[in-house]
Amino acid sequence: MNILGIESSCDETAAAVVAEGRILSDPVASQIKLHAEYGGVVPELAAREHLSNILPVARQAMDQSGIRLGDIDWIAATQGPGLPPALMVGYHVAQSLAFALDKPFMGVNHHEAHLYSPWIDPEAGVLDATAFEPNVSLIVSGGHTMLVLVEEPLKHRILGGTIDDAAGECFDKTAKLIGLPYPGGPVMDRLAAKGNPKAHDFPRPLLKDPGLDFSFSGLKTSVRYFIQKHPERVESASKLQDLCASVQAAIVEVLVKKTIRAAERTGVQTITASGGVSCNQGLRKALQEACDSKEMQLRIAHGRYCTDNAAMVAMLAAWKIQAGASPQTEEEGIRAGWRLETGVTR
Ligand code: KG4
Ligand code: ZN
Repeated sequence: MNILGIESSCDETAAAVVAEGRILSDPVASQIKLHAEYGGVVPELAAREHLSNILPVARQAMDQSGIRLGDIDWIAATQGPGLPPALMVGYHVAQSLAFALDKPFMGVNHHEAHLYSPWIDPEAGVLDATAFEPNVSLIVSGGHTMLVLVEEPLKHRILGGTIDDAAGECFDKTAKLIGLPYPGGPVMDRLAAKGNPKAHDFPRPLLKDPGLDFSFSGLKTSVRYFIQKHPERVESASKLQDLCASVQAAIVEVLVKKTIRAAERTGVQTITASGGVSCNQGLRKALQEACDSKEMQLRIAHGRYCTDNAAMVAMLAAWKIQAGASPQTEEEGIRAGWRLETGVTR
């Protein structure tokens, strides 16, 4: 079974070939430099860039895999959620390829692809399905922050999510307020590593609330007021590092404590994490420490599969096909606002 997967939901154009459950290629063309000048992703520009990158990236994936296009059995692509003009490029290129090759096609939910990415073994390039354990999964990206109970492969229940900004959005927006370049998350991560996380006490939104939802817009606002009141706190490298470390500590503490709470409440012993923010060194360390102290297992997506990629799209499709999923009809289009729902998705 050879699958070509395509991803274009935001600012990465990606394609991957998975053959007999193994990743043979997964090139990604990032648009970070293009959008940096605007301080965020400009959907129209993203779509144009996807248009010029999609075929070269797909060709690169095919060439690196050593598989001929005619030997591809299924084509899968991200159907949503994401930026509509960006999604349209990858989804319709993939659908057209399936049509031209007369092969079955599958649209994939982007969050569901992130959800199972921690099970990709980066060394072997396979989905480590035999290691699967019921888990609470933290999906933390630029577009969403969710806690999901995964009872068995492809069967999950949403436990909570953000009621306003996503964690990645909070990183990016506060970084912008501080004057850091886009995307702020990784830059803040680097600066935070050298700062004092206790230098400033920022709010931990909804931490005392017993529920499993998140809220990050208030934190962003408190950082804005803090900088207005103390402009000198961004004026030297060490003060900037302390500020970043303090903001990151607030985000990380809420994410970690709510994730552990969700695991305790549902009685699972394994925690997984995925999405761009799961690259964050402070989050990875804090999650590991929390899991160690609770004697829970932790599986965080490998760095290569944290941010957007097509390997996770093709892998999820492979898992679903193996479980008997049916191809999608040609009438379907993108689903930009597609939310991950509770249920069995085979
Ligand atoms: O999963 P992703 O590539 O795209 C979405 O589906 O949104 O996540 C992108 C987000 C951005 O907000 C970016 O700033 C954040 O992930 N991010 C990080 C780090 N690396 C990426 N945030 C904090 N620390 C990082 N090291
Ligand atoms: Zn993503």
